Amino acid sequence: MIKIEVLVGSVRQNRFCDKPANYLCGELKKEENVEAELVDLKEWDLPFFNEPITPVASKGEYKNPLVKKFAEKISEADGFVIVTPEYNHGYPGVLKNALDWIYYPWNQKPVGFVSYGGAGGARSVEQLRQVVIALHMHPIQPSITIPLEILRAFQQGKAADLPLSELFRPLREGRDLIHPFFSELVKLTTILKNAQGEPSSKG
Ligand SMILES: Cc1cc2nc3c(=O)[nH]c(=O)nc-3n(C[C@H](O)[C@H](O)[C@H](O)COP(=O)(O)O)c2cc1C
Repeated sequence: MIKIEVLVGSVRQNRFCDKPANYLCGELKKEENVEAELVDLKEWDLPFFNEPITPVASKGEYKNPLVKKFAEKISEADGFVIVTPEYNHGYPGVLKNALDWIYYPWNQKPVGFVSYGGAGGARSVEQLRQVVIALHMHPIQPSITIPLEILRAFQQGKAADLPLSELFRPLREGRDLIHPFFSELVKLTTILKNAQGEPSSKG
């Protein structure tokens, strides 16, 4: 069994982000041998990073009790999905802050990206790929770009009464975007989890 946490990357009022995050978390739970949990940064409400030493130097000790709990929550996961909008051609600051606060709980874990926006949120994803490498994470190649018409339907209030399965039906129809994404994420997460604790080839 592997555990995947789905991070909700926007905390603003009336956000769209929690819709795809909730939908995909529900879909992940249907996968064999996968436990999935939503990690909503709006609920965590982390302060801006302000520690005198870096998370690497603090060796996994977090003074702030909320950050300590957040680190414990992230440590539970074997892999991640990050759902992100695009704000001014980048990903939201709240997401960077969450990534920066801790270090070891992200290490050696796969991550897949889900994005949306005028250009599909592609610029956010490309930036995130660079950042997660610094955290020793393993970004997977496939990503899910939410079709613009779904975001527009939400923004125009046309999606309010639709169940999530209906709103996100286009992700499964035609070219299935979810299957290759889940398949790669689950495969890599399982491989890395199983490899943990194996002796290094260098001895
Ligand atoms: C501060 C801000 C900057 C934005 N900049 C972009 C942008 O550069 N590119 C884009 O496609 N959409 C941009 N948008 C529009 C967002 O794609 C749209 O508001 C989306 O719903 C934001 O995601 P959220 O509702 O989950 O927060 C921006 C929105 C905000 C609030």
